[in-house]
This record gives sequence, structure tokens and C-alpha cells, in this order.
Amino acid sequence: MAVRRYLVLATIFGLVGGVLTQEDWAAQLRGEMDPARIEEFLRILTEKPHMAGTQGGYELAEYVRQTWEDQGLDSARIAPYDVLLSYPHPDSPSYVALLDESGNEMFRSSVAGEPQLDVDPPFNISGVPPPFAAYSPSGVVEGNLVYVNYARTSDFDLLKSRGISVEGKIAIARYGKTSRGRKLRRAQDRGAIGMIVYSDPKEVVGTGSGKTKKYPDGWYAPGTAVQRGHYLYGVGEGEPLTPGYPATDYAYRIDQSDSDQLPTIPVHVIGYTDAMELLRHMGGPLVPSSWQGLLDIDYRFGPEMEGPASKVRLDVNVETEVRTVHNVVGIIRGREEPDRYVILGNHRDAWTFGGVDPNSGTACLLEITRVLGEMMRRGWRPRRTLMFVSWDAEEHGMHGSYEWIEEFGKIMSDRAVAYLNVDNAVRDDYTLRARATPSLKPLLKEAAKMVPWPTSTQDGNTLYEVWSKRSPQTSASDSPPKISLPAGASDYVPFVRRVGVPILDLAMVHRYTITYPNFPLYHTTYETFHLQKTYIDPHFKFHRLMSQLWGEVALSLAESWILPIDVSEYAGTVQEMYNWLDNWYRDKFEGSAISLDALQSAVANFTQAAMMIEDELSSMENNTDPLVARMYNDQLMQMERAFIDPQGILYQKFYRHTILSSGLWDTETFPALGDAVRRMGSDWTDPGKEDKLKEVKQELSIITFFIQSAANILAKPASTVF
Ligand SMILES: *[C@@H]1O[C@H](CO)[C@@H](O)[C@H](O)[C@H]1NC(C)=O
Ligand SMILES: *[C@@H]1O[C@H](CO)[C@@H](O)[C@H](O)[C@H]1NC(C)=O
Ligand SMILES: *[C@@H]1O[C@H](CO)[C@@H](O)[C@H](O)[C@H]1NC(C)=O
Ligand SMILES: [Zn+2]
Repeated sequence: MAVRRYLVLATIFGLVGGVLTQEDWAAQLRGEMDPARIEEFLRILTEKPHMAGTQGGYELAEYVRQTWEDQGLDSARIAPYDVLLSYPHPDSPSYVALLDESGNEMFRSSVAGEPQLDVDPPFNISGVPPPFAAYSPSGVVEGNLVYVNYARTSDFDLLKSRGISVEGKIAIARYGKTSRGRKLRRAQDRGAIGMIVYSDPKEVVGTGSGKTKKYPDGWYAPGTAVQRGHYLYGVGEGEPLTPGYPATDYAYRIDQSDSDQLPTIPVHVIGYTDAMELLRHMGGPLVPSSWQGLLDIDYRFGPEMEGPASKVRLDVNVETEVRTVHNVVGIIRGREEPDRYVILGNHRDAWTFGGVDPNSGTACLLEITRVLGEMMRRGWRPRRTLMFVSWDAEEHGMHGSYEWIEEFGKIMSDRAVAYLNVDNAVRDDYTLRARATPSLKPLLKEAAKMVPWPTSTQDGNTLYEVWSKRSPQTSASDSPPKISLPAGASDYVPFVRRVGVPILDLAMVHRYTITYPNFPLYHTTYETFHLQKTYIDPHFKFHRLMSQLWGEVALSLAESWILPIDVSEYAGTVQEMYNWLDNWYRDKFEGSAISLDALQSAVANFTQAAMMIEDELSSMENNTDPLVARMYNDQLMQMERAFIDPQGILYQKFYRHTILSSGLWDTETFPALGDAVRRMGSDWTDPGKEDKLKEVKQELSIITFFIQSAANILAKPASTVF
């Protein structure tokens, strides 16, 4: 499918663009990406800390704006919002202390943060925020510790089964498996008075042979490194004080106490050297082996303490403040369809230097715009508009992108073709990790075939080949690469969940993705240019690879005569979701006299409508009428929007995508229906479950309606669907 479209777009562009075809321009874009320039961009971007709402953050916004202007984009401007941010108190750093029986401090955690290290090129830690948990309330609490593992629901269930409660206690959790905000909310809901979160060596130190050295000698985390991060409990509201609406200067702001996102118990973050001091003084029963980390101690549940330690003090000084953040928006106006937008985005703000997160992505973005600027000087201009966005305040909770979508959501719903996100472009050099809405998966695979793998390996010569080998979807030897659905959290989230814009999210990652869902030095002071240059991508070849892939996908979406949005692929995914429900729950539905027939019919209708439009597109292969192309393209573009419920899904009014789950839900599919089904438990006949069963019935009818809506959008515009 996608291959055919490439050919069509080449011919058409050849007609209007003179000598050079679309393929020639795409080859120029791939060919001119320059690792040395990407390196230089990253060096500049990581010179100073640039947290959202700080002077360093503003200076970098201005740098990006100026760079885009100099590169020759049609426009580059700063789009500000006033959002609630969170910072460590400048004079009283937060800490955790161990107290003896007389209340004297036996030990206090490092308050200054990670020590300066002597590396080449050097980094200057003055201006790096000390470790803090953003949005924690300030306060001092004292109490015994309870170890809660990753603070998942299942972890608290296990504690409960052992008769151990966090009520009135301070919970200590390790990073991993679930988001910060959800760890904290679970502890808070169960009566904990405070929380400590630390990075266990199990998550941040290598255990195998080979790369196990710790920074500054390697890629792994030393015990002094601390992961910063925000602790909002966000389920799509956007910035805490302006839920659902843009944080403009005239916006009405709710009281902080009325925001459900802000935590109410203090929380602090530490590295494993400090955590060791706390954990080794804990008493109580030994934890099961799956709860053991890799510190050389026996991990215990608590809440007793081993003498002479008697309790822990948590002293947190973190402040919130409304400050201005700065998205930067650059535009290359489309030649024929200026009102269709292909958007490339990456955040710019970082907790510290951003050597990986997010500025490896920003460096790639600036290289793409540099080459496109050159191409414009040679007479190139895309068919559709290309938009480039450098988001601010992603780290504080995706505020820059959420507020922008809240301001421009209606326009994006009408005009956005796709949003292509790259955040941590290069965490390591092993394989590509991709997330995508189903309709963009075939395009991504085709683009990866055009990108050469930059080093010599038996796994293949192109990105596609190496990626398929190293991240296969199935165990078959000729398996295509795995592409996940868009769960997780970065700036693509508001696009897909609020508006239903097709998205991609791309990163080069390490081999042990399962063990380390993030990279060890994530959000620590040591996320430096030096880390990237010395241990991750010394020659910036993988940054070039990411720029090539990102640019290839963008150009294809911006130039194709017919949009490379694959609705059949989407129908296939929805069919799999239906099959999952049918396999696991048909008996339950039947036992409760609920029919799945209508849902099955909607899925079949959607599949058929997708096939029919694909057929029509093949038969009009040589049609050059732009109005006809536009008609089909609008159907393809609007298909994903069909799944958006403006009222939000059950219990989540700001989560509007009815098909794709976010990872916030227990099921992979149909988030609201899947959760309603899970809430039923194993016995659907229990009369006490009447209300829950009503929810299942309602959600089933809602999802059926939205899938049928997608089928209707793909049907012939003047057909009999009405
Ligand atoms: C580090 O940065 C601070 C603040 O920007 C500056 O005053 C200081 O001179 C810098 N130190 C070095 C060694 O560059
Ligand atoms: C599927 O399409 C058929 C034929 O148009 C229609 O009768 C049926 O109602 C549709 N199914 C749903 C769930 O709307
Ligand atoms: C489009 O044109 C090509 C070249 O003339 C031809 O081979 C092909 O059959 C045409 N496609 C259709 C669907 O008519
Ligand atoms: Zn990031």
C-alpha cells in the first residue's frame, strides 16, 4: 500500500515541481543531515540548565526561535502560557534524616544534589536544581518506614495481605513500573504521611557483562544520582489550575486546593547511596524475592526500625508558582494545501542539562529544519504546511503541549494531518522504540527502509532490517518490527487523547528496555553533553539516523498526493481488540444476557469501509484532480477523530479517545469498556454488581457507536449512511 503511494506522489510532484521529484528532495533531506552540526546543536542546547520558567529556559526558547528564523522558516514565534510550576525552595533544600531514640539525627541525605565531576567537556552544575519532587507540598513529617516496592496497586495488595499498613507511616518506594504521580497517590490514599522514592541499582545499574560502569566511567547511575520529576496525578486535565482551557493571561484559575492533581503529602527523591542508609535500618519481616532490589542488604517491610534508629524525618521545602513558559512554533507554509498541518514536536525544557531528555531530540529537530531551509533556498516548498514545535514545561506535566492543544484543539481537529513526536531521540544505540496510532504504522516501516543503519552489523543494512531483528513483533524469523500503541507520557498525549490526531513517538534505545524502561541517568544532573558524546553516540550517527527517519516520515505526510494513512491497518487493530474481548469475556457477556453482536457488526462495517476506500484509492491512481484527492484525504485524516468522545470516557472527562488506552487503564484496548469489564471481577452474576453491569452495557453501546462512526466517515460521502 504505502509503496504504491510513494510512486504516485513522485509522479505528481514531478508534474508541478519541475525537474526534481519528491524522491529527489527526500534523498536530499536524508543525505544532507550532518552529524557534526547535530553535535554542535546539542552542545549549545545543553550548556546551561533550562528548567521551565527559568531564565535558562527562556534563553533557550529564544535561541530556538532565532535559529529557525536564521534557517529560513517562514515564521518562528514564541507562544507563551502562564502555568503552575514547582521549584525547590532556594534556601532550604529538602532532605530525609534518620533519627535515633533521643531524636538526634544519625544521618541526613545529600541536600546539594549530585557532586560536580571533572569530565571533558566540563559541565557547570551551578544552577542545577537540587533533587526535589515537583509539586510536593512542603512540610515536615516523622514516622516509621514501610517499604512498598514499586508502589503498584498489586504491591499494596500484598502488603495488606501481610497485615502491613502505611497508615501514619512514611512509604519508601523504588522507581520503576508505574508513574511517580500514581505511586504517590496510592500511598496518599492509603493514609501514608509522606513518601520517599529512590532509584534502586536493580533499575539503574547494569548486572551483565560488558557495559556496567557507572558515570563518569560509563552509562549507568552512581549512588549519588537522583531522578527528579513531577508528582502530579494527572489524567489529562492539562495544567492544574486551568483544567480543560488554555492558561492564557485572562484565564480563570481554580484554587490549588480544588485541583485533584496536586498531592497532599510530602514526597522526596534520593539516590541509592542514601536509600541504603534508610533501608538497612529497617526492621520487620523480610520481603519476597521479587521485592528485593540489588543493594547489599536484606530488604524488609518495616515498619519497625533497627536500633539505634528509631524513625525517619522527611523535611520538604518545595514551592509552587505561576510563571510564564514558552513554546516555540516554526512554520514552513504549504504550497497547495497550506491549511493541512504535519507537525513535528519535541520538548525543550529539562530538569538539568537535557543531554538525552529532551535535547537529543531538539538537536535532531534543528538539523531537520536546517536542511529544509537549505532546500527552500533551492526552490523547494512542501505541498502541505510543516509545523515545528519546541514545547516548554513537559517535565512539569506536559503543560506546554496541553495548553496549546487546549487553545488550538478545534483547528487541529480540522487541519492536523499527524503529530510526530521525538523526546529522548538517543538513549542508546541498540534499536528503535516506536509508538504509533495504527494508521501510521505502515508509513513508519516504509520510512525506516529508506534509512541506512550507520554502523556495520550482521543484523542488516537499513534501520528497518536491524530494528526488525532486534525488536521483532513476533518470534518468527521474518517478523516485522514491533510498534506499540501510544501509551506512556510525552507531548503526543494531548494530540491523540484530546483531538484524535494520528501520532508517532520515536526513540533509539538500549538493549535492556524491559529492565530499564528509561535510561539510568534519566533526570539526573549527569544527563550531560559529556554523557552523550562519551558513552551514547560519540559520532552522532544515531542522531543523524533519527533525523533521517523523522524527516522522511514528515516529508512523506507533507508531500503525498494521497495521505499515507492506512485505515485498513487501523481496522485490523480494532478487530484484534474485539477478538481480545470476545476470547476472554464472551462467556461472561452471554451469562449476563448481553449481546456482542452490534459491536461485532460495527467492527465488520469499519473493516469493510476501510477496504472499500482503499480499493477506490487504487482505481483513481492516475487521477490528478486536487479536489478529488482532497475529498479522500479528508476522510483518511478525519477517521481517527471519529473515536473522540467530546464528553470524555467514563470517570475521565478529559480523556476523549475511546479506542486507544493510555496505560492508565488496566486493559490495552477500549479503555472505558475494558475497565468496566475488569471492575466486574470474576462473578458477573452477583446481584450486588448491578450498577457495575449497567456500566458495562453502556460502555459497550458507546464503543459500538464510535466504531460505526469511523466506518461512516470512510463511506462514500454521498452514500446511504444517512
Ligand atoms: C558556572 O555558572 C555560574 C552561573 O551561571 C557562573 O557564575 C560560573 O562562573 C560558572 N562557572 C564556570 C567554571 O564556568
Ligand atoms: C453495519 O452496517 C449495516 C449495513 O449498513 C447496518 O445495517 C448495521 O446497522 C451496521 N451496524 C451498526 C452497529 O451500526
Ligand atoms: C495509471 O497509469 C499507469 C501508466 O500509464 C498504468 O500502467 C496504470 O494501469 C494506471 N492505473 C490505473 C488504475 O488506471
Ligand atoms: Zn522528555
